[in-house]
Amino acid sequence: MVFAASQSTAASDAEHAAAIERLRRERRAVILAHYYQEPEIQDIADFIGDSLELSRQAAATDAEVIVFCGVHFMAETAKILSPGKTVLIPDLAAGCSLADACPPGPFAAFRAEHPDHIVVSYINCSAAIKAQSDLICTSSNAVDLVRQLPADRPVLFAPDQNLGRWVQAQSGRELTLWPGSCIVHESFSEQALLRLKAEHPNAEVLAHPECLPHLLDLADFIGSTSKLLRRASESEATSFIVLTEPGILHQMRLKVPGKTFIEVPGTDGCSCNACPYMRLNTLEKLHQCLETLSPAIELDEEIRQRALAPIQRMLELSA
Ligand code: 13P
Ligand code: SF4
Repeated sequence: MVFAASQSTAASDAEHAAAIERLRRERRAVILAHYYQEPEIQDIADFIGDSLELSRQAAATDAEVIVFCGVHFMAETAKILSPGKTVLIPDLAAGCSLADACPPGPFAAFRAEHPDHIVVSYINCSAAIKAQSDLICTSSNAVDLVRQLPADRPVLFAPDQNLGRWVQAQSGRELTLWPGSCIVHESFSEQALLRLKAEHPNAEVLAHPECLPHLLDLADFIGSTSKLLRRASESEATSFIVLTEPGILHQMRLKVPGKTFIEVPGTDGCSCNACPYMRLNTLEKLHQCLETLSPAIELDEEIRQRALAPIQRMLELSA
């Protein structure tokens, strides 16, 4: 099969979708997708979820091939949990600014400065950082997990300082923060949010905890992508201003029909509220990776084993 340069016509999308259907059966593959993926990828996935739910799916699946439509650290986590399976990602360049903000060498030096600290790392980090951590968390379970830590031990939290500040406020635990952040969640315009709130005075503001603290102060509900989706369904409000990557609006509109969802633009009205890494994956690349079984995630076995322990601890503690 030859893959021509992408022309995203409805017909070619339909052809890719038909080939993906055939190949996923032939390869005994499961397609996992994060909410920030393009709608056509969400529509074809076997399972859509937040980071925690996708990790659980990756650990539990009996498929031979996991195609992870998300970013690299998510596919890498699937490989750490299921080393015997082939784990594919449609575009190997789909990274994450948070993971990039925490390189292993400087992080090891930071840890060495705080030898008595329990190291809690947000799942948005590389395997090399997970291998240096005591416990992994996601935005869905971070507050709950930090509350369970022994009260007499100081805690180091990496790599997202915005999530860390929010966890600190919610849990009442002092955290030593690594200074990383997400380029997408730091891009939302306060001015645009205030304008949207004035235009839609009855709308609830739903925010992801990776947002800057002064924007979280303006939110009515804060949580992981799955929690925001659930809140949209359970709330009595009928309109929502959504402070996270707008890919999730596709599921919100599908799962909660009849309610209104409004995205918040980035500063200067740019489209930087869309994650440039997540959006590298396309239906065509998904088709191609199922056809060629590449790119596949490969990991050093020693790093994998060291990274596995704190992920398993997370799965046990957040059961
Ligand atoms: P969730 O765990 O809420 O899905 O968030 C993942 C992520 O990358 C947010 O930017
Ligand atoms: Fe990483 Fe931010 Fe993209 Fe999430 S939205 S994958 S934290 S860069």
